[in-house]
Amino acid sequence: MKIVVIQGPNLNMLGVREQNIYGPMKMEDIHAQMKSFGEQNGAEVEFFQSNLEGEIIDRIQECLGDADGIIINPAGYTHTSIAIRDAISAVSMPTIEVHLSNISQREEFRHKSLIAPVCAGQISGMGAFSYHLGMVGMLQILTEIKMMKEQEEKA
Ligand code: DQA
Repeated sequence: MKIVVIQGPNLNMLGVREQNIYGPMKMEDIHAQMKSFGEQNGAEVEFFQSNLEGEIIDRIQECLGDADGIIINPAGYTHTSIAIRDAISAVSMPTIEVHLSNISQREEFRHKSLIAPVCAGQISGMGAFSYHLGMVGMLQILTEIKMMKEQEEKA
């Protein structure tokens, strides 16, 4: 079971950028927690961060045939990128959208996510813990898929 975590623009600056909004935790520390929790639950977890839309799209496409699920914080591209949304649709695998801040509570331009309609779920507003909740949700989805496949094989 492999989960790929994709981080959009400026998330490499977590711990430095707008700590009042995004909190003090560095991206690397969030990843270390996710990796250890994923591994405890039998999942391999890979991480990717880019400030470039095309690189994010390439990484999503690479998940096809290689990963079982995607956890993505598209950051600023959440509100603008039809291309990232199309890439998620194209690979057609369980995807969870994560935000540290509560995007519904912020400026109006952040209220709309172009990504949410192609995701299994969205977690927003829980700070760094949003990523942990994203991981819990993804493990649950992948476990359910596995159980369904096993039942189908039996029938
Ligand atoms: C964010 C919210 C976005 O609106 C913003 O552009 C980000 C971070 C979050 O995690 O809260 O860069 O995705």
